[in-house]
Amino acid sequence: MNTTHPDAPTPPMSARERFLAACRREAVDRPPIWIMRQAGRYMSTYRALRERAHFLEICHRPELSLEATMMAVDQLGVDAAILFSDILVPLAPMGLSVDFDEGGPRVGVARDEATISNLRTDVVGELGFVAEAVALIRKTLDARADPLPLLGFSGSPFTLATYAIEGGTTRNKHALRRMVWDRPDLLHALLDKMADVVAPYCAMQIEAGAHAIQLFDTWGGLLTEDEWRRFSLPYTQRVMRTLRQHYPNVPLIHYALDSSHLLGALADLHCDALSVDHKEPLSLVREKTGRAFALQGNVEPGVMTASTSAIARAVTACIEDYGRVPGHIINLGHGITPDATVDAARTFVTVAREQGAALWA
Ligand code: CP3
Repeated sequence: MNTTHPDAPTPPMSARERFLAACRREAVDRPPIWIMRQAGRYMSTYRALRERAHFLEICHRPELSLEATMMAVDQLGVDAAILFSDILVPLAPMGLSVDFDEGGPRVGVARDEATISNLRTDVVGELGFVAEAVALIRKTLDARADPLPLLGFSGSPFTLATYAIEGGTTRNKHALRRMVWDRPDLLHALLDKMADVVAPYCAMQIEAGAHAIQLFDTWGGLLTEDEWRRFSLPYTQRVMRTLRQHYPNVPLIHYALDSSHLLGALADLHCDALSVDHKEPLSLVREKTGRAFALQGNVEPGVMTASTSAIARAVTACIEDYGRVPGHIINLGHGITPDATVDAARTFVTVAREQGAALWA
């Protein structure tokens, strides 16, 4: 009997089987659920942790990273845990200062030839605290009944390069745009450095116990399709190819914000799942990407600040639109924001569980 047939009746699965099956587009008992940025300032327990430690200290101390990861797991009832860290963490050992203040991240600027060529890439040895956090979270999850899968992550080479060029989160990203136009050679040199860091950084997380890896190309949507094919795709592809070669069974998830115009190009990625924002229904994303990927998403994050009934309607619409087709990982289209509430996140998870199970019953 072919148990992977979409209509095959599915017995209750373990949380890890459920998540991995969804990534592989195999039948599930119900689609798995997690929330991007599921541990964060919308939680009073996270704000209390931040009273004790600066954000970067949480990222650097494995026992605090564990605490942040597990508060989301314990309070929300999600089906996956994600390492608590930040995409900017690997930039510091490369030689770029990284800090976070009220205005968001501040990163040392790398725009000129000398700075870029001096960036170090042999840095995973200095990121051992991330491997320790992954191992500690993994050990903690493993000790529980029905242990959750653990996601590791990294920024994509292009998104990390954007932060290094802009020096933080900027509105129009003109420094990056200038480089695209005037110094594509320098941009390529920087992207090359980032790809050299991202591949071993993800490998380190897998070796430490991560079950899947998500690559965040948050700023890839700034590019036209042609530019994305030149400046983002080849570098992410290099990372994915390396990881697939060494870890063929570890699912790779690609996240892209504002990427409706890139769907044709995203279809060329060597990954298992595409995580997309809320601007297009997943049924359409699936057609535009050749039915070749699991899809993660894509409820609008703003609904998490609206009423319980609005959250229920949004989640139900997302699940019904995707339909009883293998390969849905229920999530938001972008990270949950500080003005959301834990009750809203719980409603999201509860409704997604009920509706997902009803669809697959
Ligand atoms: O999902 C999780 O729960 C894991 C933790 C996680 C964080 N950042 C924690 C965080 C993950 C996966 C990220 C990824 C990340 N970081 C991305 C890609 C995802 C996305 O949202 O597009 C990006 C672009 C960053 C860079 C970053 N980190 C920015 C722009 C900011 C400031 C904006 C903000 O929300 O404050 C951060 C800070 C950050 N990263 C916080 C958290 C919990 C808040 C820091 C604090 O406690 O003060």
